[in-house]
Amino acid sequence: MSEQTLSNLNIGLEKIIDKIMKYAEVKQIVVSKEALQTLESTNYIDIINYADEQGIFVINKEFVEEYLENNPDAKLQQHKEEVHSLPTEILKSIRIPAADEEADLIIPDEGYNQGFEEYKCDISDFNDFFTTKYKELKKILLQHRNISPVSSKALKFMKESESVCLIGMVNDKRNSKKGNCIIELEDLDGEFKIIITQNGKLKDFDKQIVKDDVIAINGKYLGNSIVIAEEIDYPTMTNTTMKKSKRNLNLLITSDIHLGSKLFYEDMFKEFIDWLNCRNVSSLEREEINKIKYIILNGDCVDGIGVYPQQLSELNIIDINEQYELLGNYLSMIPEHIEILMLPGNHDAVRLADPQPVIPKQFAKKLHEMKNVHMIGSPSRAKIEGLEVLMYHGNSMNTLQFQLKIDPTKAELAMEHYLRRRTLSPVYGERHITAPDKNGLMIIKEEPDIFITGHIHSNAYKYVNGCLTVNPGCWQAQTVYQREQGHVPTPGQVPIIQLDKGSYFEKNFRKEGDKIWLLSYHLVMKKQKFILKN
Ligand SMILES: [Fe+2]
Repeated sequence: MSEQTLSNLNIGLEKIIDKIMKYAEVKQIVVSKEALQTLESTNYIDIINYADEQGIFVINKEFVEEYLENNPDAKLQQHKEEVHSLPTEILKSIRIPAADEEADLIIPDEGYNQGFEEYKCDISDFNDFFTTKYKELKKILLQHRNISPVSSKALKFMKESESVCLIGMVNDKRNSKKGNCIIELEDLDGEFKIIITQNGKLKDFDKQIVKDDVIAINGKYLGNSIVIAEEIDYPTMTNTTMKKSKRNLNLLITSDIHLGSKLFYEDMFKEFIDWLNCRNVSSLEREEINKIKYIILNGDCVDGIGVYPQQLSELNIIDINEQYELLGNYLSMIPEHIEILMLPGNHDAVRLADPQPVIPKQFAKKLHEMKNVHMIGSPSRAKIEGLEVLMYHGNSMNTLQFQLKIDPTKAELAMEHYLRRRTLSPVYGERHITAPDKNGLMIIKEEPDIFITGHIHSNAYKYVNGCLTVNPGCWQAQTVYQREQGHVPTPGQVPIIQLDKGSYFEKNFRKEGDKIWLLSYHLVMKKQKFILKN
């Protein structure tokens, strides 16, 4: 027999086995390896149907042999495995759109700098960093606003009360004795001040301005490089409706697995892996699972080593390589037709400073070698089914929440502020470490259709202009550190985005979750967009 013929035969055999497995799965019956070998030369549909009628959950070799003894024709008959001969409802159940369709995924090379080789390690690095931020955000402001800003240098040639527009980066903010807010800004040519009065339409606007914000100001010139602000604009978003994909496929998002931690919900995570393999699921769920073509793992997939002082006592795997190895084992159980995008977070084996490069291969060899796993940096962008997806673990979120005095459990509020400022690093320093990146990787240059963060460990959803913002929660119980930060985790609640509808639903793996899933599912069918939490 030629090699070609042998290979064709093997492919044919694999197809039959695949069909037997799929059909048995539909009937929720397990087929043993030995029984599979016998079934492949029989009319397996009748045999599996018979097992189903008899209430048998496992088909072993003895069962098949006994059946064939009583029904010798089954062995002699031609296969009835042609898919078109299956009943319609079964045909629908075994179709896996995500496996049938090629991925439509583009991940641009962000040009991450892995080390310090690009830096001079002096003040000029930071100068370049702030200059890039200013220039990029000014570019966005000029695209979106009908404004004609002047340089701060031009102020000295202006008359009092003359109208003026400037774009500046906030240096400092303080209150005057009269209760007005004085903000010091600078542009590429110098410094200027603006005054926000408490009796105009900008009353309380100063509360949302933070250090390093880049804003456009329209106002009246007072002299002495001071402007009374009449209007203030952020770069912000201009899209009003979310883009939808042409194909009916799903994007699943999860984050902060913290594998290796004693607080990792291992059983719940195993259930999640089973669920992705359609084990013990309803036909409604199966239909949605079979449409999952992409998974985003948004950082902190492992708990890491030496991330905080008392971490060692909270770990059950104290070797970083082992943590990634185990993660690789879990990911290899996910159907291969699903493309997995994996980012680093503050617990990963990579520098803490944003932007965080890809987790190096030396720690996560298995993950780097998996065909369907794409190791990317944080932040990263990807075009998924034609939609612009922005992914960022969220290391700067604590600083932003603290500066703006917003609820630390509500990631959606922080995400809205990121989009408004069009940067993932609004404030330099404070509780957040930023590398003086000159490429502007933290700037949101393209308007995203989907924006994902993690880090906060609690689920959040919000439509902001034409963008769906999502924080997918975690797989870890509350740590002491999180309690101190005021973070309340929502473990095991997995968001799934229906890309052709722009809607989402949650699969809840917590014990009381099934009820929520079904309710959620019906709502999504009815309203096409919803969320149910707790
Ligand atoms: Fe985390």
